Amino acid sequence: MKERSTFGSRFGAIAVVGGSAVGLGNIWKFPYVAGQNGGAAFVIIYVAISFLISIPVMLSEFSIGRHSRRNVLGAFRSITPQRGWQGVGWLSLIAAFVILSFYSVISGWSIEFIKESVVGGFAGRTPAEVQTFFTDFVSSGWRPVIYTLLFVALNCVIVGLGVEKGIERYSKILMPLLALLLVGLAVRSAFLSGFGQSVDFLFRPDWSKINGSVVVQALGQSFFSMSIGMGAMITYGSYLNSRENMFRIAATVAVTDVVIAVVAGLAIFPAVFTFGINPTSGPDLVFLTLPTLFAQIGGGYLISIVFFLLLLFAAITSSFSMLEVIVAYLVEEFDLTRFKANVVAFLSVGLLSSLCALSQVPGSKIRLFGSNLFDLFDYVSSNLMLPLGGLAIVIFVGWFMDRKIRRDQFTSYGTSGVAIYPFVVAMIKFVVPVAIIVMFLSLIKVI
Ligand code: PHE
Repeated sequence: MKERSTFGSRFGAIAVVGGSAVGLGNIWKFPYVAGQNGGAAFVIIYVAISFLISIPVMLSEFSIGRHSRRNVLGAFRSITPQRGWQGVGWLSLIAAFVILSFYSVISGWSIEFIKESVVGGFAGRTPAEVQTFFTDFVSSGWRPVIYTLLFVALNCVIVGLGVEKGIERYSKILMPLLALLLVGLAVRSAFLSGFGQSVDFLFRPDWSKINGSVVVQALGQSFFSMSIGMGAMITYGSYLNSRENMFRIAATVAVTDVVIAVVAGLAIFPAVFTFGINPTSGPDLVFLTLPTLFAQIGGGYLISIVFFLLLLFAAITSSFSMLEVIVAYLVEEFDLTRFKANVVAFLSVGLLSSLCALSQVPGSKIRLFGSNLFDLFDYVSSNLMLPLGGLAIVIFVGWFMDRKIRRDQFTSYGTSGVAIYPFVVAMIKFVVPVAIIVMFLSLIKVI
């Protein structure tokens, strides 16, 4: 057995776990999903789910990882003799590939958009011209593939350096930088005339917009944004120090994740409202709408560069965690060196993400179940794989995990969180599974 590392410090652990959580989910996805689901009422439900449901799932994952100190498959193998639970490990690995594939494509776009911002390419362009630029880029096929591969390679190089020297070191630099850039951007947005309308949109709820599908979307969005339900937190949990207070890490990360999503909304919506654009415009919101808007506001040149750089930083620290699920598996189950594991990961993730990028070329034959690969992966991961993975994990921790192990892990051997432990266990046993099942049933329209 190779020697296993742990995170070097508490700040390091928070930067790494927070780096995983804060990503495209907060900056690219949250604003448009909130936009499509009615704004403030969605935001309130999303925040409630993040604290009441997602935190217990995250703690459950930490406890499996920290006790076993293994990759997702090895973790279930070592923690229970019942072999069926290894299925959760497999589901996690597949989810890591699926999410990383479409995620790398979007991250690749952000590299192209940084380049275009730097050369001043968006200046003076009309919305129609930006639309043409984006469509041409995505449909060219090979250009997005190159950027996607570049992004995957960058990831593999950093993750290849190791948990402490690669992932932790870069997260500690990139996360504070990201927060700084985002706050700067939000402050600039506060001077736009659409700011008041954005505050209303994000904070004044219209409850009539809430229905079952909105709640399901909030759950999927929260799981995606907190990186739970696919073993990333089992893997990262395996590097957590045994005395580290898990509650503190999970709570800090949840607060950071929610705050960054809302601040991203405050940075993005003012531009949207100032120019009278419909906030429900969907996944293209960030890539189509924003460049045009930036081109028309004071300081737009710099803002555009900062924004897409921020998107890239957010994306890469999240990708580390998905890649680490795959790399830890390869290193421990096949006894590969970290270097070789990253080469294998680069080749496999590179191939799958290239297919995702190519599936967006109009007329492409790369389709599955009647949908292009990119859209399918995006939909299936948030709406099915993560809730299903999260459900299996809480059922395992709530009902099947050895009680002493569970208590030792959650309370860090009786040193922290002892008072809230019974409450959290009750949530994990009853409330969280029931909530996820009810949401599933409403997704398939049974209730
Ligand atoms: N949480 C990341 C984001 O918000 C995405 C992610 C999902 C990362 C699942 C790891 C695992 O962008």
